[in-house]
Amino acid sequence: MSRFFVGITGASGHIYAEALLRGLTAQGHQVDLAATPAGCLVLRHELGVEAGQAGELLAEALPGWLGEECASQIRAFPSSAVGAPPSSGTALTGAAIICPCSMGTLGRVRAGYSSNLVERVADVALKEGRPLVLIPRETPLSVIHLENMLDLTRMGAICLPAMPGFYHHPNSIEDLVNFVVGKIFDRLGIESQSGARWTGLADPPEETLESPPGISAAGETEGAP
Ligand SMILES: Cc1cc2nc3c(=O)[nH]c(=O)nc-3n(C[C@H](O)[C@H](O)[C@H](O)COP(=O)(O)O)c2cc1C
Repeated sequence: MSRFFVGITGASGHIYAEALLRGLTAQGHQVDLAATPAGCLVLRHELGVEAGQAGELLAEALPGWLGEECASQIRAFPSSAVGAPPSSGTALTGAAIICPCSMGTLGRVRAGYSSNLVERVADVALKEGRPLVLIPRETPLSVIHLENMLDLTRMGAICLPAMPGFYHHPNSIEDLVNFVVGKIFDRLGIESQSGARWTGLADPPEETLESPPGISAAGETEGAP
C-alpha cells in the first residue's frame, strides 16, 4: 500500500476529490491531504464541508464528511503547513494529485512558487521525478492556461482535465465522476473498480443499418446474380 498526497484547490469539482479520497482509502492506501484557502471556500460551497479558512479545521471535518473508516486513513494539514512531512523530498509520497486543480495553482506550480503545502508538494514531486497528476477544471481555456499545461506536461506532470466521456452511457453524476477518477487511478497504476473499461462498439441492430441505394443491408447488390 502507498501513501499519496491529495491537494484540493479552488477549482470547481470537489465531488471528484471526494470520490478520489474514498477510492484510495477503500483500497487501503494512506492519504496526506491539504486544501488551499480557495479550496476551503469551494469545499464549503459545493459539499457543505467546513474546513476553516485555510484547512485548519479539515482534520476534524473528515469523519463527518467521509466517514470514520475513510478519515482514519487520511492525515489532513493546513495549507500553510509547508514544514509538514509531505513537503520534503525525503517523504516517500507515491504520487501527488491536485484534484481539482485551479488555473491559479496550475500557474504557480508551473512557475515553482511553492507558496503553500499543495504547491510545495507538487514542486517536490517534479524535483524528485515522482508522479504529479493535475486535474485542471476551467473552460474555456486561455493561452496562459494552455501554455502552463503544455509546459507542465513537458516537465513530466500528467494533465488530466476533469473531462468525462459519454461513450460509456452514464446514467448519473456518479458515473461521470467515476469516469474521471478511473482515469486518475490508471495513471497511478492502481486497479480501479469505478472507471468503465471500453469493450468495443456493440454491433448495431441490422434494421438500423442504412444501405446505399441498390445495396441490401446484407451487402448484396440488388438485382445482381
Ligand atoms: C465557486 C467557485 C468556483 C470556482 N471554479 C473555478 C474553476 O473551475 N477553475 C478555476 O481555475 N478557478 C475557479 N475558481 C476561482 C479560484 O478559486 C481562484 O482563482 C483562486 O484564487 C484559486 O486559488 P488556489 O489555486 O490557491 O486554490 C472558482 C472560485 C469559486 C468561488
